[in-house]
Amino acid sequence: MIRLTFDYNNALDFISEADLKNYQEEINHHYLALRNKTGKGSDFLGWMGLPEQTHAHVLDKIEKTAAGLRKKSDIFVVIGIGGSYLGARAVIEALNHHFPHLKKENGAPVILYAGQNISEDYLHDLLTILDEKDYSLAVISKSGTTTEPAIAFRILRSHLENKYGVEEARRRIVAITDKEKGALKQLADEEGYETFVVPDDVGGRYSVLTPVGLLPIAVAGFDIRAMLDGAKRMKDHIGKDYSIAVNPVSAYAVVRNELYRKGKTTEIMVNYEPRLFYFTEWWKQLYGESEGKENKGIFPAGVSFTTDLHSMGQYIQDGLRNIFETVISVELPDNELKVPEDDKNLDKLNYIAGMPIHQVNRQAELGTTLAHLDGGVPNLRITIPRVNEEIMGEMIYFFEMACALSGYILGVNPFDQPGVEAYKKNMFALLGKPGFEKETEEIKKRLD
Ligand code: PA5
Repeated sequence: MIRLTFDYNNALDFISEADLKNYQEEINHHYLALRNKTGKGSDFLGWMGLPEQTHAHVLDKIEKTAAGLRKKSDIFVVIGIGGSYLGARAVIEALNHHFPHLKKENGAPVILYAGQNISEDYLHDLLTILDEKDYSLAVISKSGTTTEPAIAFRILRSHLENKYGVEEARRRIVAITDKEKGALKQLADEEGYETFVVPDDVGGRYSVLTPVGLLPIAVAGFDIRAMLDGAKRMKDHIGKDYSIAVNPVSAYAVVRNELYRKGKTTEIMVNYEPRLFYFTEWWKQLYGESEGKENKGIFPAGVSFTTDLHSMGQYIQDGLRNIFETVISVELPDNELKVPEDDKNLDKLNYIAGMPIHQVNRQAELGTTLAHLDGGVPNLRITIPRVNEEIMGEMIYFFEMACALSGYILGVNPFDQPGVEAYKKNMFALLGKPGFEKETEEIKKRLD
């Protein structure tokens, strides 16, 4: 039984059940295309089988490697960008203490990230921290040639070698990359790094349930088997019946497309728990890269409430009416803390004295939903009982599957990303990369 529920009742002032029903035949067809690998991008459907097909020996190796790295590291640096970064960060930040770097015990290293930007100051500051601490790292790149992580890895590898010597540095580096090709694979083989494979048929943004996500998540101390179990539960559940009335994945994929057709071209993912911030970032990449092509696609945005109610709240309530919101609603906190009574009551909060903070948060959520509905913002709600490994697994599979279906409804290939090459071509031309001589000449003329 899955724990996640999806509720679109608060969108029914904007779309009708009758219109949604019209998608049923199409959605059945798309499920079959995914199952039989006959749709667009069908070479990249390996993620669908990950919950049950990840071999026990791969999980054993991940856990063993993670345990070894945990023992010798105060800090573990995850080097990667896009799909080789966001999934791990989404899960780790969702499950971790909010202030892991200030928390003493628990045995897990603090997880830091590199290679997700090209900031000199960021890397400089990271090195000053790593000077003082024991650390190890994972370099994650399916292609093995992505500029941002390649620069970060060059710097950190040399730092590790200077700090520990070449032999020990090799034992502190794990490479997660293609099984046979790419510069990183070649280097890993030459240096003898521990390696894990990103399967050929799994694209970056669908790779969190491969070693790309599993190894860092295990190093951070979380139960990767429970996460895969949660994903499997979602997979089994949605495989039973595709009908929009009972299948939350079908319903989410269809409802968001129907809203899009009604002019709601921006979807805002809303969390009321700061620990879900990076889950939204992961979701933004998944949906943005999968659907934003051929001059179409819902624009995926994200906000954290109630924080952003004091900034973006104004726009959402009163701005251009092309938005709908999808709230991740967490029913229970892990801890209890109540609003204290105060004799002076200068802040006039005694009316909620004794109330758990989470209950205040829930009322803020309900009040906001109603206000936004009044302001013309349809509201979709994904409710989860709490945040743990199994639920994260359920959510990951839910959103991946819905993204694939939603992309098919939109008529695009949800598994490619041709648009991300444009900036790379220009950057390589500007940097004078060998092989880009013609582009360099052209771009120089354009800038003259
Ligand atoms: O989802 C994707 O395919 C991209 O975001 C990639 O993950 C990202 O560009 C990093 O690629 P690579 O793993 O080859 O370094």
